[in-house]
Amino acid sequence: MKKLIIANWKMNPSSLKEAQRLFNAVKKASISKKNIRTIICPPFPFLAGITKGRSSVVLGAQDVFWEKKGAYTGEVSCQMLRSLGVSYVMIGHSERRENLKEDSEIVRKKLKTAITEGLNVILCVGEKKRDSDGSYLHFVKEEIISAMKGIKRQDLSKITITYEPIWAISSTKRSKNVTPKDAVEMSIFITRILSTIYSAKLAAKVKVIYGGSADPENTKDYLSNEYIKGLLVGAESLKPARFAKILEVANKV
Ligand code: PGA
Repeated sequence: MKKLIIANWKMNPSSLKEAQRLFNAVKKASISKKNIRTIICPPFPFLAGITKGRSSVVLGAQDVFWEKKGAYTGEVSCQMLRSLGVSYVMIGHSERRENLKEDSEIVRKKLKTAITEGLNVILCVGEKKRDSDGSYLHFVKEEIISAMKGIKRQDLSKITITYEPIWAISSTKRSKNVTPKDAVEMSIFITRILSTIYSAKLAAKVKVIYGGSADPENTKDYLSNEYIKGLLVGAESLKPARFAKILEVANKV
């Protein structure tokens, strides 16, 4: 199974020209990396401008609205995304939960619509902090259970869950990173939650990946384990040479 390397550009870069330059660099670096699937998630306004000749990479969006069409000022629908060749969408990123106050109900509605409208979903979950009494496990469990409500078993293969603890996002201190061992444990925990909702066999259809300060130096450590099926990369995905290195390392793992 191909490992997923997802570039989350967030609200970057500032112009279409820069976005195209970055995209072209990633496209070049992705060529003949047969063991990985590279997914680029640029801001909405750049999606249409980088759809041409993207054979080595897949296009994703950072968000989507839960209604299909209509009077929803400022929102973007699944169909709009699909018309641009977008096949993945991120839902529930912690920055949206925090800044836009997206709660579990909103995440659930978006997930459901995206799946029924034929998009693959990258569902982001993760705790704010790790406490010694283990309540972060309960937090992640609740995030998953509420998001998956109403998701049918036949749709599970369209879902990737990113474990992205908020405290490890864009951390400049490497000591603050989640250790690969902790990431693996969480991945197993997430699969176990899914197997209690569905079954062990069905739970295995959902890929679990890791996000939070992933870089060329730690890529191998995270991906060496079969339980981590990919990485969601923020800051380092904006640096063409560093991101190319991540792709190279991931392709060899
Ligand atoms: P980071 O961001 O790689 O800069 O930590 C990851 C994310 O928030 O998607």
